[in-house]
Amino acid sequence: MLLSSVFLLALVAQGLMLDNGLLRTPPMGWLAWERFRCNTDCEADPKNCISEQLFMEMADRLAQDGWRDMGYTYLNIDDCWIGGRDDNGRLVPDLKRFPHGIAFLADYAHSLGLKLGIYEDLGNMTCMGYPGTTLDKVVPDAQTFAEWKVDMLKLDGCFSTRKERAQGYPKMAAALNATGRPIAFSCSWPAYEGGLPPKVNYSLLADSCNLWRNYDDIQDSWSSVLSILDWFVKHQDILQPAAGPGHWNDPDMLLIGNFGLSFEQARAQMALWTVLAAPLFMSTDLRTISAQNTDILQNPLMIKINQDPLGIQGRRILKEKSNIEVFMRPLSGEASALVFFSRRTDMPYHFHSSLARLNFTSSKVYEVQNVYSGDIISGLRCETNFTVTINPSGVVMWYVYPIKNLKIPQQ
Ligand SMILES: *[C@@H]1O[C@H](CO)[C@@H](O)[C@H](O)[C@H]1NC(C)=O
Ligand SMILES: *[C@@H]1O[C@H](CO)[C@@H](O)[C@H](O)[C@H]1NC(C)=O
Ligand SMILES: *[C@@H]1O[C@H](CO)[C@@H](O)[C@H](O)[C@H]1NC(C)=O
Ligand SMILES: *[C@@H]1O[C@H](CO)[C@@H](O)[C@H](O)[C@H]1NC(C)=O
Ligand SMILES: *[C@@H]1O[C@H](CO)[C@@H](O)[C@H](O)[C@H]1NC(C)=O
Repeated sequence: MLLSSVFLLALVAQGLMLDNGLLRTPPMGWLAWERFRCNTDCEADPKNCISEQLFMEMADRLAQDGWRDMGYTYLNIDDCWIGGRDDNGRLVPDLKRFPHGIAFLADYAHSLGLKLGIYEDLGNMTCMGYPGTTLDKVVPDAQTFAEWKVDMLKLDGCFSTRKERAQGYPKMAAALNATGRPIAFSCSWPAYEGGLPPKVNYSLLADSCNLWRNYDDIQDSWSSVLSILDWFVKHQDILQPAAGPGHWNDPDMLLIGNFGLSFEQARAQMALWTVLAAPLFMSTDLRTISAQNTDILQNPLMIKINQDPLGIQGRRILKEKSNIEVFMRPLSGEASALVFFSRRTDMPYHFHSSLARLNFTSSKVYEVQNVYSGDIISGLRCETNFTVTINPSGVVMWYVYPIKNLKIPQQ
């Protein structure tokens, strides 16, 4: 025990980056928690309880309804799957709700071209009271997940101390690596430390984790989206540089398709999460999702922006007295994404600006594609004035790119 902590400290001291080659772009998929929570009552609610049937049905939808082909490949279990530990201390699922076991579910996901994510908690218990991964269980639990052919682990932090987390998260990273199976590692570590330095060392975090929850759980309401967004913006000078290929801030799941957001708000969450280079984990019932919400989530240009290979997180660059805010994310190919966001509550607002006023400086000529409407605006120069009309609690999102081949052939 002492020996292994000394070894880990030595690894940390050498600044060994997490180098599992995974999640070079933000992960995309489906995660059970926000929509299905800890509903374990399969007798009263068989279609919606946390069970292998729910995950198999979502896997079918991911594979058949275009999701997987757009990049939504992770099928992720959250809390409330555990039945206990066997005589050898190995985790076992609740066999009433997961009668064929997790390895079966992983095979099922893999057979459809999907990946399976699982959940545990570094501590005495999971947040909902199921057996947790205490420090002595880190290595065997990592081995169990690898034997089951799991592809991602979300490790929560309920019922742990600060000291246990400081040991346990790097220890799990090392244990996952030692299994030899590539397993993406989602840490809730910073969320349990308040999300900010000096308690959180973001470069240390990136040595262990592929993504991390920084802040509160999302709930099915616009006010929850705003509270998360406000926190991310307030601390963007700290958070923005922490993200990059292989290591992402996670503002939590997309609510789109559920009950709390209007159409405009659903579009706004998708656009804002995309400029933040956030993981795109849906948590909604894919068996009944509307065509309108599917269109928001399956917008090809939106996904291309979210998955931009540079992996630069965007920032809020402007906050106007009019309650209009502008977010910008630099993209590959000298392109960028702009999100014009209205916090107004009256009526569509005509926002006047120019690329120069958003600090674009080049003498290039740009073209803009409106991400939601598909409209193209051509011939935009930095000094060209434009007007965008933004609905209350809505966005206008632009993909801005220089028009190439403008050079006049030399005589
Ligand atoms: C384990 O870590 C080493 C060194 O950082 C890396 O080269 C290797 O790909 C990792 N393996 C897995 C399975 O994560
Ligand atoms: C975990 O359980 C041990 C043993 O019961 C107890 O001493 C410890 O205080 C618990 N830790 C937390 C953070 O709840
Ligand atoms: C954060 O951790 C890194 C190791 O990844 C270390 O080099 C650095 O000194 C730490 N920063 C602070 C402020 O402790
Ligand atoms: C533009 O740059 C100036 C000077 O660095 C800065 O004060 C201003 O906030 C920037 N505006 C935007 C919209 O980025
Ligand atoms: C753009 O609008 C600003 C402010 O309204 C104005 O001062 C400027 O002359 C306009 N520029 C052009 C090129 O029309």
